[in-house]
Amino acid sequence: MEETMATMTATDTGKAVRIHDFGGPDVLRYEDVPKPEPTPDEILVRVHAAGVNPVDWKIREGHMGKVPLPSVMGSDFSGVVESLGTHVKEFNVGDAVFGVVAEESGGYAEYAVAPVSRVAKKPASLDHVHAAALPTASLTAWQALFDTAELQAGQKVLIHAAAGGVGGFAVQFAKWKGAHVIGTASAQSIAYVRSLGADEVIDYRQTKFEDAVRDVDVVFDTLGGETQERSWSVLKPGGILVSIVSPPPKEKATAHNVRGVFMVSNPRGDQLARIADLVVRGQVKVNVEVVLPLHEARKAQELSQSGHVHGKIVLVVEP
Ligand SMILES: NC(=O)c1ccc[n+]([C@@H]2O[C@H](COP(=O)([O-])OP(=O)(O)OC[C@H]3O[C@@H](n4cnc5c(N)ncnc54)[C@H](OP(=O)(O)O)[C@@H]3O)[C@@H](O)[C@H]2O)c1
Repeated sequence: MEETMATMTATDTGKAVRIHDFGGPDVLRYEDVPKPEPTPDEILVRVHAAGVNPVDWKIREGHMGKVPLPSVMGSDFSGVVESLGTHVKEFNVGDAVFGVVAEESGGYAEYAVAPVSRVAKKPASLDHVHAAALPTASLTAWQALFDTAELQAGQKVLIHAAAGGVGGFAVQFAKWKGAHVIGTASAQSIAYVRSLGADEVIDYRQTKFEDAVRDVDVVFDTLGGETQERSWSVLKPGGILVSIVSPPPKEKATAHNVRGVFMVSNPRGDQLARIADLVVRGQVKVNVEVVLPLHEARKAQELSQSGHVHGKIVLVVEP
């Protein structure tokens, strides 16, 4: 990856992976960038690990609107508090924390800023790599199942792309809640999804899930398109389809006497703390499939974009 030298001193700058244009993986640049300054309600973090999410390459390609350029990539981080905004009372310098960066900041960096509302203390038994894998994927799964679908014990839930970053957490959260969990995955991922606690796993390449599943209370749609289209028929009347990919058409939901809801994750530090507690107690596993150094962000995004990684991809930021 191209490396550029800034004219600032080393203490004013840090390494980061930025884009100056929208496009393919080759627009990613590993370079020196100004160290961000925390606003009164933000903390400055020395990042140790950065989580990779599909939204990162979607932003890079310009699919998520035109973010101001240049832009440091990534949202999820784990690291150590370097300095505090003037209003911050929740954290101290030196605390190990993880969470989601501020809109104008980026996680693929040595330094990032984050509002305190998006951050939780990192438990000592959770390392930075696993903590950085949690924020967006686990919060999305949590909020889709519990805040939006209000999943209850004994209900039946169909989770699409159950081997993915979001799906893998969703399977475990739904099982922890006491639901009957059905996941879709390819043959190579079936054992993995079962190991997460799924009661049934459907090989989506061999079996049409709508032929194998019925009377579901909740469909978690992490794929959109024809998967969403084919999901309406598996729901029982009064059920709910929650999509994190594309807004479900109202008329489809009405025709099947169910609800269809589109959801965007909310970066809540309080929920992250709750999720981390489940991890520490061994009730939820964080599956990190690929760990790469920060300067290999291009490879990380290419893998993410392949759409077939199990669990999470994490970049390690070397000191
Ligand atoms: N709205 C929001 O706030 C929000 C938040 C987070 C994520 N998202 C979006 O949600 C989507 C999923 O995110 P993610 O992080 O979970 O992605 P991911 O980790 O890249 O998902 C990869 C997984 O998808 C599985 N998969 C691919 N095609 C499939 C199919 N037809 N049926 C079943 N499984 C399939 C693959 O399993 P196999 O290898 O077994 O095929 C792979 O394990 C992305 O589009 C992301 O941008 C939205």
